[in-house]
Amino acid sequence: MSGYALETSGVGVRFGGVRALSDVRIGVRPGEVCGLIGPNGAGKTTLFDVVSGIRRPEEGRVLLDGRDVTRRSPVWRARHGLRRTFQRQQLFGQLTVEDNLLVAQEWRRGTTRERRARAVSLLRECGLEDIAGAYAGALPVGRARMVELARALADPPRVLLLDEPASGMTARERGQLAAVVRHMADEEDCAVLLVEHNVTFVMELCARVVVLDLGEVLAAGTPDEVRADPRVRDAYLGTRTSGERHGRAAGEVIAHDGDVHLTDVPDDQ
Ligand SMILES: Nc1ncnc2c1ncn2[C@@H]1O[C@H](COP(=O)(O)OP(=O)(O)O)[C@@H](O)[C@H]1O
Ligand SMILES: [Mg+2]
Repeated sequence: MSGYALETSGVGVRFGGVRALSDVRIGVRPGEVCGLIGPNGAGKTTLFDVVSGIRRPEEGRVLLDGRDVTRRSPVWRARHGLRRTFQRQQLFGQLTVEDNLLVAQEWRRGTTRERRARAVSLLRECGLEDIAGAYAGALPVGRARMVELARALADPPRVLLLDEPASGMTARERGQLAAVVRHMADEEDCAVLLVEHNVTFVMELCARVVVLDLGEVLAAGTPDEVRADPRVRDAYLGTRTSGERHGRAAGEVIAHDGDVHLTDVPDDQ
């Protein structure tokens, strides 16, 4: 046994002529928060689609707790403890926050009373009690993202994929998000894979970081190792300037005093 809750090996995906992922191998252990960073278009969301079963890879395998699930449906994977949030929000805007949390439990066994109790504890855990009765569609983006996280936790997941959860959040909300993610890893033994443009946030929260670039794993290691990795420095500082790189978001990485500084991309809003 590898000891990984989530593992991919040799994953390859093409979109016509575009190679979105090639030979991607990652592993996340129970209780680990692993960061996944890389420029826009690097393939981060595509990898999430492959892991969650929305997209079948042309090559490679996905394993949950050592079990090959590559041909399993998204629903099967969800029933076996895999949860994700989406880069684009997926809440029911015309339902209240609390009802969103109840709907997320529809497929769970248990009584209505138990579901309500779970919703109340999620509201508390995620700092959403004050907006329990608000319509999800009317929330500021940072709070809405927190509701999405709460939905993903409705049934405590074994593996949690978070796609840019901090985008649009205030510093305070980011702190709250970090605390909830830490709790999931430390107390619930959940394996978390976190995609985030806010590199400072990633580096603070994650013990290990994987860097994707043009669909390939460029580097992996502790935040310090990744910052110092010559391949990361070359890719970001080498002959390819930001204008030449496809899909590159301005400001992602800048050179300063001969060092690599991964800077935060401004929030979407
Ligand atoms: N449905 C799709 N059809 C065609 N190309 C796609 C599709 N989804 C993603 N791509 C391409 O695959 C690459 C990786 O995209 P994506 O996984 O969204 O990157 P990231 O999440 O890292 O920004 C990009 O070149 C993107 O344009
Ligand atoms: Mg993406």
